[in-house]
Amino acid sequence: MSKGKLEKFAALETFKNVFQCPFSVISQGAFDMKGKWREQYFHNDNPIVLELGCGKGEYTVGLACKYPEINFIGVDIKGARIYTGAKQALEQELDNVAFLRTSIEFIDRFFAKDEVQEIWLTFSDPQMKNVHKRLTSTFFMNRYKQFLVDGGIVHLKTDSNFLFTYTTYMVSSNNLPVLYRTEDLYGNEHNEKVEAEEKIDDKTLEILSIHTYYEKQWIERGLNIKYMKFTLPHNVSLIEPNIEIELDEYRSYKRFKRSGLEKSK
Ligand SMILES: C[S@@+](CC[C@H](N)C(=O)[O-])C[C@H]1O[C@@H](n2cnc3c(N)ncnc32)[C@H](O)[C@@H]1O
Repeated sequence: MSKGKLEKFAALETFKNVFQCPFSVISQGAFDMKGKWREQYFHNDNPIVLELGCGKGEYTVGLACKYPEINFIGVDIKGARIYTGAKQALEQELDNVAFLRTSIEFIDRFFAKDEVQEIWLTFSDPQMKNVHKRLTSTFFMNRYKQFLVDGGIVHLKTDSNFLFTYTTYMVSSNNLPVLYRTEDLYGNEHNEKVEAEEKIDDKTLEILSIHTYYEKQWIERGLNIKYMKFTLPHNVSLIEPNIEIELDEYRSYKRFKRSGLEKSK
């Protein structure tokens, strides 16, 4: 491991806004603050918003600056990435920010029923080969339902055609209400489909102007950024869509070429 990473990991141990809970920690017992984030950490009754797979936490920190009356928690398994956002939040004295280092597979162990108002999924790995690792699969939606308020909002911002198409099917198969959806957020392709979409409101537009680390890279490569927000009602029994979707060849072209894989469920 590089010296830089070791220094970041050592610093993380001292950051009061970071909770490190890899499997080795949570397998030893329940998370103390489950259901008590507001009372024990934020010391207010404000809503809680999660960014899952936050990387360097651009949304967590960016939204926290814009909305001091909302609490934001960035979740990622990679400590060296979380370090960047956590350090910024400390330097800017943002007391409405926390970071949780853990696997999102265990996310329901950290939050109690109705403890979270919204979830952001920013440039999540599309996980084209494994639906159980895909953060918009029904596998994860069922976990989110355990702590998201009834009708809580899920935001997905992505470069990936695969993930966006999959999520569109997942949402429509389960009749989840879509609040907004665009295949070309920044309007690179002025085709009829984009023009037909509803105009986005100014507040959402301002939020979406936050660019993440990965987003900047995909924009530089000329890829369209896609965005949708939908709600997750509690009374829906989710069914996993059974569909085949074209893979994103630009992501792992060589790997898929070797395996001959062209489509995935
Ligand atoms: C492609 S990066 C995007 C990071 C950031 N949201 C951005 O847009 O720059 C995906 C992030 O999700 C994290 N991640 C993916 N699957 C995860 C999981 N199951 N549990 C925790 N973190 C995960 C990775 O560590 C990585 O930082």
